[in-house]
Amino acid sequence: MAFVKSRDTQIGYDDVGDGLPVVLLHAFPLNRAMWHEQIAALSSRWRFIAPDHRGFGESSVAPSATMEEMAQDVAALLDELQIEQAVIGGLSMGGYVSFAFYRQFPQRVRALILADTRAEADTEEARRNRERMAERALREGAEAIAEEMIPKLVAARTLNERPEIRERLRLMIVRNDPAGIAAAQRGMAVRRDQTDLLARIEVPTLIIVGCEDQLTPPELSEAMHQRIRGSHLVAIEGAGHVSNIERPQDFNRALESFLQRIEPKR
Ligand code: MLT
Repeated sequence: MAFVKSRDTQIGYDDVGDGLPVVLLHAFPLNRAMWHEQIAALSSRWRFIAPDHRGFGESSVAPSATMEEMAQDVAALLDELQIEQAVIGGLSMGGYVSFAFYRQFPQRVRALILADTRAEADTEEARRNRERMAERALREGAEAIAEEMIPKLVAARTLNERPEIRERLRLMIVRNDPAGIAAAQRGMAVRRDQTDLLARIEVPTLIIVGCEDQLTPPELSEAMHQRIRGSHLVAIEGAGHVSNIERPQDFNRALESFLQRIEPKR
């Protein structure tokens, strides 16, 4: 665990392993600990860099948390580590940040991993719902957000039969500062539509989705797959939105087979 200063915030991160650098960007409202199984299984072959986004985990809360600002935090981290180019991957909000990173720093992206995410911006209804949740976080705290979010983050079967996953998600969520949760919701509400970028992505791209993902359903991943030239799509049976936590072995297999085809330099 280390920290890097990025303009108005301090970013906590893990940097584990050797080899081709792979940045893993966590979902909302979790933190970098969500990547535990991926890093434990694969860091003997690749170097994993997993930051906490501003306002989450051990990173400090900043007044605003747009996807562009989070992407700039990742660039500041790579600068600090003297890494010019890396595989950039994220799940859900981490995917939104990956798109924002690719748009701002395409030359720094060796390959992309887009897990349980979407390229589209929010609908008006989704924006209103985010503002409601931001206000709820500030008023009632992170525990209320955990209660509201957990049933949406996992498949029904995970929710009913795997209390240890529910508890792990709850602990990640309640340790976050409500102000960070609210800022990220407001940042996601104003994120731009990235669909125009899809046809211009020129790096190897892996798309992963849980077959029972309610928040970013598999059709959205299928649509991204159609538009990103040469992309590879893996759908994971029995997983909901947090596919890497619900089905780590399947997720890791997809990650491993993708990464072993990527050469360190272009
Ligand atoms: C996430 O998992 O990061 C969130 O569900 C993304 C979102 O709210 O759009």
